[in-house]
Amino acid sequence: MNYAIALMPGDGIGPEVAREAVRALDAIGRRFGHHFEFREGLVGGAAIDATGDALPEETLAIAKRADAILFGAVGGPKWDDPRARTRPEAGLLALRRSMGLFANLRPVKVAPELRDASPLKSAVIDGVDLIVVRELTGGLYFAEPKRRWDTSRGRRAVDTLKYSEQEIRRVLQVGFDLARGRRGRLASVDKANVLASSRLWREVAQEMAEQNPDVTVSHILVDACAMMLLQRPMDFDVIVTENMFGDILTDEASVLAGSMGLLPSASLGTRRIRKRGGGLFGMYEPIHGSAPDIAGRGTANPLAAISSAAMMLRLSLNLTGEADALEAAIDAALAAGYRTVDLASAGITEASARTVGTTDMADAVIERIENPERARVPRPL
Ligand code: IPM
Ligand code: MG
Repeated sequence: MNYAIALMPGDGIGPEVAREAVRALDAIGRRFGHHFEFREGLVGGAAIDATGDALPEETLAIAKRADAILFGAVGGPKWDDPRARTRPEAGLLALRRSMGLFANLRPVKVAPELRDASPLKSAVIDGVDLIVVRELTGGLYFAEPKRRWDTSRGRRAVDTLKYSEQEIRRVLQVGFDLARGRRGRLASVDKANVLASSRLWREVAQEMAEQNPDVTVSHILVDACAMMLLQRPMDFDVIVTENMFGDILTDEASVLAGSMGLLPSASLGTRRIRKRGGGLFGMYEPIHGSAPDIAGRGTANPLAAISSAAMMLRLSLNLTGEADALEAAIDAALAAGYRTVDLASAGITEASARTVGTTDMADAVIERIENPERARVPRPL
């Protein structure tokens, strides 16, 4: 089958890792007889430089006609002037909002072969398998008023944390559905001891808990959750939370997995793609940013971008076997000892480990897509 993928590489290491995700998808296409047609759009700083706009009309039009979006990363010091008319991040936010992608899924798993890559003890992180559902189109990121102004007594600025019960319910529903297919546990994370929006969030979560007795719901304050993620991360199954809480908690949770360079994400709404058996339209991006400090060196870890492509195969294109094959190839490349520098420097000591750059890491994955028997090597641990 043919699939149209909107490709938005963005800035910094975005283009470097997106390129490898494209190569991995092409290898999947060759093995399984699919054609992925990539339609590239400018976004972020690259788009500001070319058009003055972080999300040009043309890019949005490409997204709207595609089956899914594969996104790299945006931002960088070049566009950091606080007085600038627009920022690269505005392109990403506008894309999430205009495509209605309100549920951001960020799975965090500790691969057995990477248990030493985390600065945390393996007794704490062994067996971690959780998923954060971050609300993505409301809350502190989007609600109005949001502005900055000058007064006779100095500068002022405001952001607003506002939610409707519908916005809260639909993202919690995603969490309930996920929990049901996993270990049946949902942590609803809020700050109900301080914020009115969180008290509404908790009320809605509690009502839904009563309607869904097959899922065990706990309400956790966000500050306590930040602590528990480091103390007992294996207790978490599905976490659902407000936009900004989710942004912060997922960077923290990435430490469990060893590196931000490993973690994929999917952003979903309610629109189904127009393909037989198609899933939800979605945008797929690594959770890491544009990492301007290492951009252009060929050292970035492409696995978060490649894993995001696997999520795209599974969730939007409904290509489950293909997603399994891609994920197996990633695991096999790690099991064979391939490490990008973010993983190597984190304390990997196995003699078999090999530090490689972006392209070589992707090659190791692609080789295992093309030779599936090599993706079945038993894990050394
Ligand atoms: C993320 C990023 C973005 C966010 C930035 C780049 C706007 O940190 O996807 O987590 O804050 O949502
Ligand atoms: Mg973030």
